[in-house]
Amino acid sequence: MKQEYKLYKEGDQIVWKTLFERQVENLQGKSCAAYLSCLEIMKDVLNAKQIPDFKLMNATLIESTGWTIEVVPGLIPVEDFFRLLAQRKFSASTWVRKMNQLDYLEEPDMFHDIFGHTPLLADPKFAQFMKEFGDLGVEFIDNDDVVVQLQRLYWFTIEFGLIYENGPKVYGAGICSSFGETIHSLSADVEVVPFSLEQVINTEFKTDVVQTLYFELESFDQLFSEFKQFRDTIREKVA
Ligand SMILES: [Fe+2]
Repeated sequence: MKQEYKLYKEGDQIVWKTLFERQVENLQGKSCAAYLSCLEIMKDVLNAKQIPDFKLMNATLIESTGWTIEVVPGLIPVEDFFRLLAQRKFSASTWVRKMNQLDYLEEPDMFHDIFGHTPLLADPKFAQFMKEFGDLGVEFIDNDDVVVQLQRLYWFTIEFGLIYENGPKVYGAGICSSFGETIHSLSADVEVVPFSLEQVINTEFKTDVVQTLYFELESFDQLFSEFKQFRDTIREKVA
């Protein structure tokens, strides 16, 4: 599949511009430094002016970290998702929500996939973590326990992770791509606990309700090193 750019209507472009401008402003002082600097790296190909063209985005991502965007029809089987990550391909949809859906979606659209997820793919260390996450998923695809643990890890970090930088800041794509989530996740209405990979992989999550629990990293290095320990441990268990 590929992005059929000419199929976007003027209304789609207006929705994109509205979402982008509103969320960039909302993220000031709320998102982590890495996310904002990656948005800056991507600014020629990812901006409010127009719906991004994946060909141009891919050229920028390939140059910075070797990643590309892979167009998918919507949610895909977990094994395909892991396999694509392992190939440094991030699966994304191409449809844009309607003006009356600015704040709520049942399924991720392109603003979530692209604005939320792709900026940190321009960060070499985070991009490497994403690739290794995919590798581990491929390696353990037949182990249901490990797959569930990886899904929880993905949910509480890549989708809904917070990080401490002079206070809690957002980096997860589910937060960064959502006006309401950005405010909610940093509000007094939620519980924020220090990140522990061990605790994350033992914590269930729900996709269809507002989140009430968030894990806060000390640094991205904490995530990368705990991930490596986790990988070593599960490899030892099956050896
Ligand atoms: Fe996502």
